[in-house]
Amino acid sequence: MNLLTIKDMPDDVMKEVINKAIELKKEGNRNRDDLEGKVLISLYEKPSTRTRISFETAIYNLGGRSIVMDFKSSQISRGETMADTARVLSRYGHVVSARLFRQTTLEELAKSASVPVINALTDLEHPCQALADMQTVIEYGKEKGKLVYIGDSANNVANSLMLAAARYGMHVVLCSPSHFPPKDEYVEAARKTGAKVDVESDPKKAVAGADVIYTDVWISMGMESQSEERVKQFAPYQLNGELLKLAKPDCIVLHCLPAHRGAEITDEVLDGENAKSVWDQAENRMWAQEALLLKLLKE
Ligand code: CP
Ligand code: NVA
Repeated sequence: MNLLTIKDMPDDVMKEVINKAIELKKEGNRNRDDLEGKVLISLYEKPSTRTRISFETAIYNLGGRSIVMDFKSSQISRGETMADTARVLSRYGHVVSARLFRQTTLEELAKSASVPVINALTDLEHPCQALADMQTVIEYGKEKGKLVYIGDSANNVANSLMLAAARYGMHVVLCSPSHFPPKDEYVEAARKTGAKVDVESDPKKAVAGADVIYTDVWISMGMESQSEERVKQFAPYQLNGELLKLAKPDCIVLHCLPAHRGAEITDEVLDGENAKSVWDQAENRMWAQEALLLKLLKE
């Protein structure tokens, strides 16, 4: 089994992994031997702090080992194909995770790999993030509530999240400027779960009564050439104290991080009481990926 998108991960498998993550965190044992002798190979075409380190700690906590290879120092930078790379890495490791610019490159890699492949973020989705996001939502008891994603609701994080949240029956609201709408195919897939999924361009209307507000950067990796336009268009969608006041008083704030403080989120919000959840969310990357690695390698 691969994890290339949340879209292709069956609902019951997704929930099983999230429940396992919650259980692993409660147990808190960081010295397990479940994956002794297993090797995780991670490929990075773009930068990472959380994904890389949480995957490494996750495999170490389970008794396995980790090898990270970035594109620049590998033969990929000199033209070796993804297919050949996949064939070779499958002879060394038991599972491969990859952070790539394009989903199509990930699919190429997965097609020729003979071990499970995990999407560690592409332009289309960030499924590992969504697992940790929903773990956090559940830990705070908000999985039956209203989740508002504000900002670039067509990005990788939003795509994976809207589907994962809809599968729990949350009321999902996607809030962005009307000419930066969420992706139709993801909104449709989220609605197909039976959940209420709204698209709203007015931030005040969107966040009214929210239980969870999620935001992410306006300029994802690879979109740097659109920076000027995006900063202008998304400015009214900043998550600030004034906007947060319209949500429920115990609303939790989520952000996948890294945050661009003063852009999509203010210091006041990120350092405030409602955003304590952000640091739990970052920690949960490790537990969710432990659960995922167990699912992929133990069965
Ligand atoms: N949230 C997340 O994926 O962070 P990194 O880019 O630091 O891995
Ligand atoms: N949407 C962001 C997420 C970073 C973790 C990006 O792709 O840059």
